[in-house]
Amino acid sequence: MDALCKQAMPDLLLLLLAVIPDKLSVLPAAPSAPKPPLRSRGAVPASPLQLTLWESQDLQLTCAVSSQTPQHVHLSVSFGLSAPDASRDVQPLQEVIAVRRDFAVEAGERFAERHRAQELSLAKTGDRRYQMVLGWLRPEDAGIYHCVAGEWIQDPDGSWQQIAEKRVVLAQVTVRTVASQLAASASPAKVRVGSGEALELLCNASGLQAAPLPHIVYSLGWEVSQGSEGEGRLVARLDPGGALVLGDSYANRDVGRRHVSLQKLASPLGSYQLRIESAQPSDVGSYRCVVWAFVRSPGDKLREVASVRSEALTVDMKSEAVVLEATAWLPSATIYRGDTAEVRCNVSVEATQDIALALSWWVELPDEGPTSHGVLLASVSREGVADLASRPSGGAVSVDKASPTSHRLRLHGVQPSDEGKYHCAVTAWVRYPDLSWYKAGSAKSNMVTVYPYTLGE
Ligand SMILES: *[C@@H]1O[C@H](CO)[C@@H](O)[C@H](O)[C@H]1NC(C)=O
Ligand SMILES: *[C@@H]1O[C@H](CO)[C@@H](O)[C@H](O)[C@H]1NC(C)=O
Repeated sequence: MDALCKQAMPDLLLLLLAVIPDKLSVLPAAPSAPKPPLRSRGAVPASPLQLTLWESQDLQLTCAVSSQTPQHVHLSVSFGLSAPDASRDVQPLQEVIAVRRDFAVEAGERFAERHRAQELSLAKTGDRRYQMVLGWLRPEDAGIYHCVAGEWIQDPDGSWQQIAEKRVVLAQVTVRTVASQLAASASPAKVRVGSGEALELLCNASGLQAAPLPHIVYSLGWEVSQGSEGEGRLVARLDPGGALVLGDSYANRDVGRRHVSLQKLASPLGSYQLRIESAQPSDVGSYRCVVWAFVRSPGDKLREVASVRSEALTVDMKSEAVVLEATAWLPSATIYRGDTAEVRCNVSVEATQDIALALSWWVELPDEGPTSHGVLLASVSREGVADLASRPSGGAVSVDKASPTSHRLRLHGVQPSDEGKYHCAVTAWVRYPDLSWYKAGSAKSNMVTVYPYTLGE
């Protein structure tokens, strides 16, 4: 009996298929239309629904699937995507997301990550309605969306057979990119500032306020480049939260913290003003305003989706060159062991601004190779603070000024191991009204040789 039954199965199945009429219906449905879908069989609209959405918006598509088959059947519903320009008969479908005949919801390979990130979902929203929501829409999501319904029947041996499949076009989706919207322009085209004066530049950013898009945030800033330098370096930017971020060269140990502000102006709309309180010669260059757009993911991460740079505007400055010179010399021709040896450094400065000098003293020992830069003995900062290092012989050093332009290094109780070539190095710093610093020049003196004689030699 058992064997007979199994043998008879294929015929039975054929018979079954033959008597099941085509009762599967699959139709596009408006996402929130309350009335049930039409029952008209195979009524595929001649041209599919055209949808144009912005990058980052949600794409919601609903497919109504029903079966009039009298037998107990299970349905599977799959949402697929094909390229926008391909004929839909030959174009293979890429699965977006599907509910299988066992009710499991699975995303296609290309969309699995977004399903995990909760940007993509599929839910049964009514008797026959299946709604796919693809959020945080990306440009590559453009194309023709289809709904494929399958009808499954369980054989007496427990296995499932698909007895019908139907496919319908839901919509042709076009995605407008944020990048296509953004524009930035900068003014004035040319600026000439005096050293220490305020530098003001204006950026007109458009495409930001057009329609507030979900999950899109913006950042706006300025970059400067000098000479043939390709990449601009950041001057300042407003991060998506509105906080000001200064570029590395505007806030550091050397320059202090320069007074740079970047503000959104009340009018005209979309205007942002960059203001550098006290312009320095280092501010000369080509400036561009940059607008960045980011998408904030469900996990709160920012992903850059677009950036646009304005045309460059030039900033130049009347040159205010600083001429700096340093000369090392020994006031006494002969130095004996145990004496206090003196090395002098005369510094001459020609500058239109007030200058603060920083000075350092170096020695190169006779047994050091030619590649040696020498040993730092002492330094005096631009604020006038002395920092004394130790001498090769271990003895004490001191520094002071013999006259306003002549600096002095003293080696107390000089030893044979102090023998070497000595020089000084000097840096001219300009202090700006905003209390920031600018390195206007630096110079290295000649070398003088200190040779401690033994008494009576
Ligand atoms: C800003 O730019 C937009 C588009 O580029 C332009 O229509 C608008 O007139 C500009 N506004 C100002 C104040 O320059
Ligand atoms: C250094 O300056 C002093 C005056 O401060 C001067 O007497 C001396 O001759 C100068 N030495 C050199 C080498 O320029």
